[in-house]
Amino acid sequence: MTDQQHKSRSTEAFFGRRKGKPLRERQAEGLASLLPELTLDLESEPPRDLADLFPLPVESIRLEIGFGGGEHLIHRAVESPSVGFIGIEPFVNSMAKLLSRVDDLGLKNVRVYDDDATQVLDWMPEASVDRIDLLYPDPWPKRKHWKRRFVSAVNLDRFHRVLKPGGQFLFASDIDTYVNWTLAHCRDHHGFEWTAEQSSDWLTPFAGWPGTRYENKARREGRSSAYLTFDKI
Ligand SMILES: C[S@@+](CC[C@H](N)C(=O)[O-])C[C@H]1O[C@@H](n2cnc3c(N)ncnc32)[C@H](O)[C@@H]1O
Repeated sequence: MTDQQHKSRSTEAFFGRRKGKPLRERQAEGLASLLPELTLDLESEPPRDLADLFPLPVESIRLEIGFGGGEHLIHRAVESPSVGFIGIEPFVNSMAKLLSRVDDLGLKNVRVYDDDATQVLDWMPEASVDRIDLLYPDPWPKRKHWKRRFVSAVNLDRFHRVLKPGGQFLFASDIDTYVNWTLAHCRDHHGFEWTAEQSSDWLTPFAGWPGTRYENKARREGRSSAYLTFDKI
């Protein structure tokens, strides 16, 4: 990718809020002390093996884009201590909440980044990630905003570049038009194969699924979800 493409692509995907209510004292302290320690330094060269980002040995690398309240990321990090997790979330309050949980639980297998995920994807070496989770991305339900959706041809190119052979892209959403949008974009990309063979495959949550805050809200409002798994081909 040229520098020019890199710049234009790096800024196109984040349209959300970066700050909400003032942070509680403990969260502000956690952010000030833990964020510098755990955030990725995109100014430095990435290690060829992303496992080297973690202080303890990890066997595989997962990326969670837009972790929101962080409940899913924390659940997975506790469940799989030998997996290295990289969580990305530009919303400051969410990052503060996640870091305080990481601190409380003493997790050593979590690294973070507090800005647009496209920057991390462009920094990562080719074929360095085992799995990408994009769970309830901002839905942008109005047609005129669809081009803001994280799933796009250029971002699927990014996913395809960083995923290892045999790597997977997992997507969940409660917005029908976004589910169809993602299926169509992955089909047209030709680098991903949807693994579903029957409807229960996309109606059933992913294995060990703890739910997410956004999913709970969708349920309260009467919307069901689709869970899509794509293999990199
Ligand atoms: C609808 S929320 C879902 C949060 C969480 N995954 C859940 O299910 O509860 C989408 C999240 O994606 C984050 N986000 C939006 N654009 C992003 C980007 N370009 N890079 C990383 N995160 C992004 C937002 O800040 C927001 O927290």
